[in-house]
Amino acid sequence: MKVLVATQKPFAKAAVDGIRAIVEKNGHTLALLEKYAEQSDLVAAAADADALIVRSDKVTAEVVETAKNLKIVVRAGAGFDNLDLAACTAHKVVAMNTPGQNSNAVAELALGLMIYMNRNQFTPGTGAELQGKTIGIQAYGNVGRLVGQKAMALGMNVLAFDPYLTADKIEATGAKVAASLEDLYAKSDFVSLHIPATPETKGSIGRNLVSRMPKGACLINTARKEVINEEELMAVLTEREDLRYVADVAPEKAAEFAEKFGKRYFGTPKKMGAETAEANINAGLAAANQICDFFATGNTRFQLNK
Ligand code: 3PG
Repeated sequence: MKVLVATQKPFAKAAVDGIRAIVEKNGHTLALLEKYAEQSDLVAAAADADALIVRSDKVTAEVVETAKNLKIVVRAGAGFDNLDLAACTAHKVVAMNTPGQNSNAVAELALGLMIYMNRNQFTPGTGAELQGKTIGIQAYGNVGRLVGQKAMALGMNVLAFDPYLTADKIEATGAKVAASLEDLYAKSDFVSLHIPATPETKGSIGRNLVSRMPKGACLINTARKEVINEEELMAVLTEREDLRYVADVAPEKAAEFAEKFGKRYFGTPKKMGAETAEANINAGLAAANQICDFFATGNTRFQLNK
């Protein structure tokens, strides 16, 4: 079988080497498409692939329709808003992700961004410490829980809100449960977002929530830029000169945010939460193993389009 790794944002070399070793050991062949310029490059490269490994690359209906041999697509990572699951299902293509494999990298970045913002983006001036402050974690999944654990180690109070978890599951980690999403925002010096981008969550973080944050608070977004209502966030940051926003990845209107809010805003130019060798290796090798296992035994654990 031909396994194509198509990554506009390439994996670390060690991850590619590891993926190749797994694929070849299982009797398959590996093809590599990195840093491609156009979506049409992905469509063309996938045309004769039996399996596809991607990161945030867009697996559109066109990709799936053109790739007549395609049987499985694995998103090496957590968020799968880049996969057209309906098209995969329609063409009997199994779609999977590799949950948890890059979570630590994203959680470490969230902590790093908090420190960066509290220390004037590493420019001279008096900053503030994290110890004793409250962090509100919106969605307490793989990444959210790791952020909570690391924040506790720094002496922060951790509040969490997750409608899919019972209070005892959250409390067992040492975090407190927010009574509601509004309550989470009202009580947190930092709110860290760990929700996926879905039709329900897109544009859901706006005036109603951000305006409730206490004086000097900071919103941290290492989830997806699409969950933010940028117009409303910009309006609240304009009215409330104490509030701050830090994002991996920068909003659509990044230049306007930078110009209007100066050091109260920072956005990474490219999504870099999972940009560590460890995360690339964990997620890339997991993807390769899931594909080989699927071909060998039909294992569909982690299938998204069941
Ligand atoms: C994810 O959803 O797994 C992260 O956002 C990482 O995405 P990336 O592989 O495009 O860096």
